[in-house]
Amino acid sequence: EKNWKGKICCIGAGYVGGPTCSVIAIKCPDYKVSIVDVNPHRIAAWNSDDLPIYEPGLDDVVKACRNRNLFFTTDVDGAIVESDIIFVSVNTPTKKHGLGSGMAADLTYIESACRRIAQVATSSKIVVEKSTVPCRTAESMRAILEANSRNGIRFDILSNPEFLAEGTAITDLFGPDRVLIGSLQTPEGLAAQKALADVYAHWVPRDRIITMNLWSSELSKLAANALLAQRISSINSLSALCEATGADVDEVAFAVGKDSRIGPKFLKASVAFGGSCFQKDILNLVYLCESLHLKEVAEYWRQVVVINEYQKQRFVRRIVHALFDTVTSKKICLLGFAFKKNTGDTRESAAIGLAKYFMDEDANVHIYDPKVTDEQILMDLSEPGISSGIEEVKKKITIFKDAYSAAEDADALVICTEWDEFKALDYQTIYQAMKKPAFIFDGRLLLDASELRKIGFKVETIGKPS
Ligand code: NAD
Ligand code: UGA
Repeated sequence: EKNWKGKICCIGAGYVGGPTCSVIAIKCPDYKVSIVDVNPHRIAAWNSDDLPIYEPGLDDVVKACRNRNLFFTTDVDGAIVESDIIFVSVNTPTKKHGLGSGMAADLTYIESACRRIAQVATSSKIVVEKSTVPCRTAESMRAILEANSRNGIRFDILSNPEFLAEGTAITDLFGPDRVLIGSLQTPEGLAAQKALADVYAHWVPRDRIITMNLWSSELSKLAANALLAQRISSINSLSALCEATGADVDEVAFAVGKDSRIGPKFLKASVAFGGSCFQKDILNLVYLCESLHLKEVAEYWRQVVVINEYQKQRFVRRIVHALFDTVTSKKICLLGFAFKKNTGDTRESAAIGLAKYFMDEDANVHIYDPKVTDEQILMDLSEPGISSGIEEVKKKITIFKDAYSAAEDADALVICTEWDEFKALDYQTIYQAMKKPAFIFDGRLLLDASELRKIGFKVETIGKPS
């Protein structure tokens, strides 16, 4: 076997583990990188031409190094044994039952990955907490690893949270604003920190590799997501005020964003933020505050999620009201099902909540998304709390292969995801094929409402006067 400078294992071949460690592999040809998962279907897909996640640029990265220094395997134990650095990149969803249900992070997968590491390791390891976790999880990881370690094997734990956003993961990973590494401030902790920094230094300038103590690093990840989501809830709360006053939220965002202290990014009003992390991580932060008896702090952050739910309900109410206060038996066409453009990921997507509402009202819901599979849509909508199951979904939902056929004969189009292709559609043709009056509800402030009105559409846009 080749004389590798080091061997890296990544436990969890998901949206984070897959892209992150594929980029490490392409940037560090002197390291062997193995990405492992307990899910054989996911690993098989990573080894095929049809990768399990859609992310612009990912195919090229994987193709360039797969089976050279990048390996996808279900042999979790083998990869643990041979590696010096082990990333733990497993899912940390919101707990569904028990203490902290609906709020706290479920750390089952983190714990089982740690137990596995301790059980099979035959040499000392650096264990990197990549998943997003509550503050002080590294301490629990260390307790589990040390209590189960054999023959005096050492485990040094680092916190190395991931800041990539889906849809731009590869560019984010190639040029991160910062890489954060937290460690204990002991000689061993600092040595481990340096070993990981040396990996990133293959492509990230040293001044962007920030080091700090473990707890600051863990909390910084939750803080970053909370602040980002807070910006969206802030602009969305203002969008309600815009609709009530005749102000235009895009103009307000532009004006305030010109202040260099506020800045222009992440101020796009929308039907709501989605994605697997914002809500989960804020609830996790709220739970942490509550358990530390910081009630006011907990309430402050909870409001970010409250406004997000309010925004979805407000949009639905506006749609129903415009459609003469009833959507029963009407054809409502949802354009976009992913939680944002350039991803096939639907976790916590606003479209799921909208579809649920329209199903409850017995509407016929047409759905088109360029990247989300039919199976995924049917699965999401069959979840308990969304519908009574697959029978109801099959009765009320029709999935289409393109926007034009989805829009045919519809009463209304609802833009749920800001896919570029929705901007380029021929709305004249769509208008002709729709029932009249033909409505467009733009949940993403994506389309030029005045052009659409010239065609004949009735247009309602979030944060803009009707
Ligand atoms: P994911 O569900 O896509 O992937 C997690 C994978 O871990 C799954 O494939 C699962 O089978 C595997 N797994 C679980 N337990 C395992 C075990 N014991 N051994 C081997 N494999 C195991 O999740 P994700 O979106 O990649 O998120 C992972 C973590 O990263 C979460 O904590 C999340 O909060 C955080 N995060 C996510 C993003 C994002 O954009 N999705 C960004 C930053 C941080
Ligand atoms: C987010 C963060 O941006 C990442 O830094 C972080 O690593 C990640 O969460 C995570 O921890 O999982 P992601 O959820 O993939 O990334 O995507 P974002 O671009 O942040 O979008 C989240 C949601 O907010 C989407 O539904 C998006 O449409 C919405 N959004 C975003 C707005 O409504 N307005 C905006 O101005 C920006």
